[in-house]
Amino acid sequence: MFKVGIIGGGNMGEAIIRGLINSKTVKEQDVIVSDISQERLDYLVNKYNIAGTDSSSRVSSLSDIVILAVKPKDAESVLSPIKENLKGKILISVLAGTKIQKLKSLVPEAKIVRVMPNTPALIGEGAIAVSFEEDISQQEKETVLNLLKPLGEVIEVNESLMDVVTGLSGSGPAYVFTFIDALAQGGVKGGLSYQDALKLAVQTVLGAAKLLKETGEHPAVLRDKVTSPAGTTIYGLHALEKGSFRSTVINAVEEATKRSKELG
Ligand SMILES: NC(=O)c1ccc[n+]([C@@H]2O[C@H](COP(=O)([O-])OP(=O)(O)OC[C@H]3O[C@@H](n4cnc5c(N)ncnc54)[C@H](OP(=O)(O)O)[C@@H]3O)[C@@H](O)[C@H]2O)c1
Repeated sequence: MFKVGIIGGGNMGEAIIRGLINSKTVKEQDVIVSDISQERLDYLVNKYNIAGTDSSSRVSSLSDIVILAVKPKDAESVLSPIKENLKGKILISVLAGTKIQKLKSLVPEAKIVRVMPNTPALIGEGAIAVSFEEDISQQEKETVLNLLKPLGEVIEVNESLMDVVTGLSGSGPAYVFTFIDALAQGGVKGGLSYQDALKLAVQTVLGAAKLLKETGEHPAVLRDKVTSPAGTTIYGLHALEKGSFRSTVINAVEEATKRSKELG
C-alpha cells in the first residue's frame, strides 16, 4: 500500500482526507498531512487518526503520492524547497488556475496531475475534472483516479478545457443555489412558507438530478415526459423561455470561463 501526503489541511485538504479514510482507499496510518496551523493539525489528527506535521518537507519525503491543497499564491513557496523530495513521485494539485506547466517548472521531476474539484466534494458528491501531464503511465493514472473517486464523479479532460470546467462545475454550485433559492421564492409568492418551499425546491433539484443520473436519459426526454399538452409544466417552461433561461445559463458558463482564463 502506498502512502499519501496532503500539504494544506484546509477545506479541500480535509475533504480529500475524509474521502480517502471513509472509503478505505488508504489506511489511516498511511496518510500524513501538513499545515502551518497547529490548531488545524490537531483537529485533523484527532478526527481522522492520521499523522500530522508542520513540515511539508516531511510529508513529501514520507509519501509516495503528494496532494497539494494550499492556496495558489502559496504554491511556489511550498514546492520549491521540496522539489528534491518529489523526484519521480506523483504530485496531485487541486490549485485553481495553476497550470501543469507552471507546477512542472517548480518541481521538474515530479509527475504532475491537475485536478479541479467543486465544493460538493466536501461531502463526496463533487464534480471533479482531472488532467495528467504527458509523462505519466496508465497505471499511475489509474492510481490517481481511484484516489479521487471517493470525492465524487471524476472525468479526465485535456488541460485546455480546465477553464470551461471551472465555469461549469467549479462555479456551478453557485448557479444551482441561486436557482434553488428562486424556485423557493416562487413557492413563497404562491403562499408557501420559505422553509417549506426551500425543502421542496432542494428535493426537486436533488431528485431530478438523481433521476437523470440513474436513468441515463437525455434531459429533454425526461422533461417531455412531465410536459403534458396544455398542462401546467408547458406554461412554466414557456415563462422560462421568455426569460431566456437557457441562454442565460449558457452565458453564465461562458462568462465564468472567460474570467477563469483571465485569472489564470
Ligand atoms: N474549496 C473549494 O471548493 C475548492 C474548489 C476547487 C479548488 N480548490 C483549491 O483548493 C486549494 C485549497 O483551497 P481551500 O478552500 O481548501 O483553502 P484553505 O481552506 O485556505 O486551505 C489551505 C490550507 O493550507 C494551509 N497552508 C498555507 N500554507 C501552507 C504551507 N506552507 N504548508 C502547509 N499548509 C499550508 C492553510 O493554512 P492557513 O489558513 O493558516 O493559511 C490552510 O489550512 C486552493 O488552491 C483552491 O484553489 C478549492
